[in-house]
Amino acid sequence: MEKYIIGNLKMNLLTVAERNHYLASFSTELKKSKFENSKIVLCPPFIHLEKFSGVFGGTQAEIGVQDIYFEERGSFTGEISPTMVKNFGGYYSIIGHSERRRYFGETNEIANEKIKIALKNGLRPIYCLGETEDERRRDLTFDVIAKQIKEAFLGIANTQADKIIIAYEPIWAVGTDAIPESNEIMEVKIWIRKMLSELYSQDIAEKIPVLYGGSVKVKSVKQACIDPGMDGVLVGRESLVPMEFLKVANIIDKS
Ligand code: PGA
Repeated sequence: MEKYIIGNLKMNLLTVAERNHYLASFSTELKKSKFENSKIVLCPPFIHLEKFSGVFGGTQAEIGVQDIYFEERGSFTGEISPTMVKNFGGYYSIIGHSERRRYFGETNEIANEKIKIALKNGLRPIYCLGETEDERRRDLTFDVIAKQIKEAFLGIANTQADKIIIAYEPIWAVGTDAIPESNEIMEVKIWIRKMLSELYSQDIAEKIPVLYGGSVKVKSVKQACIDPGMDGVLVGRESLVPMEFLKVANIIDKS
C-alpha cells in the first residue's frame, strides 16, 4: 500500500515572513527528494491554505486542513466549510484530532458528521483516534478504539470507507517524547483492521491506511512506523522543520 507522510502544522507560522520562509525551505528540500511509494501531505492553518496549494499544487506535496465544519454553508460564524476547503485547493482534512477532542469537546459523533460531509465534498478524512494515559493504565485501549471506530464510521458506505485514512495517535504520546513499543503499535493496527473487517470486509479493511502519530521524529520513525508496519505517519512538531520532516518521509519511502 502507498504510504502517507502527513504534516500537521497546528497553530503555527504566525507571520507572512515566517510562512514564506517555511514554503521556500520546504520547496527546496522537496526538490531534492523523489518519492516512489509515498504521498506527502501538509495541513497548514486555514489562513495559509490557498497559498500552500498555490505553491505545491502539481508537485509532490498535497494539501489538507486540520478540521472542517459539518455543514457546507450558512450562518455558522467562524467555521470553515468542507466545500470551501475543496475549492481553495485542499484534498484532505484531519478530523477528530485529540486536541479538538480535549479543548473543543469534539466527540465520535461529531467526527462522524465531519467524515460524512468531507467524503460528500471529495475530501479525504484523516480520522484520529487513540487512548488517554488513564485509559491505557486501566487496560481500556482496545475498548476505546473499538468505540471510536464504530461511532465514527456509522453510516459510511462500503464504497466510501476506503477513502478514509486512520491515524492512531495515543493521546499520551502527542506533544511529548513518549512512544509506545513497536509491538504495541502493531497490536493496535491489527485491532483496527479487525474492527474494520467486521464493519465492512477484510478486503475493504486492508485498503484503509492506518498511520501512527505522536512524537514522530527521525530517531523514532523505525519504532513508530517501520517496525510495526504502519502505512505512514502523522507528524506534528517535526513537520515545522522541512528538512527533518522530509528525512522522515524519505526513510519511510525507502523502507
Ligand atoms: P507531535 O503531534 O508529532 O508533535 O507529537 C502529532 C499530532 O498532534 O498529530
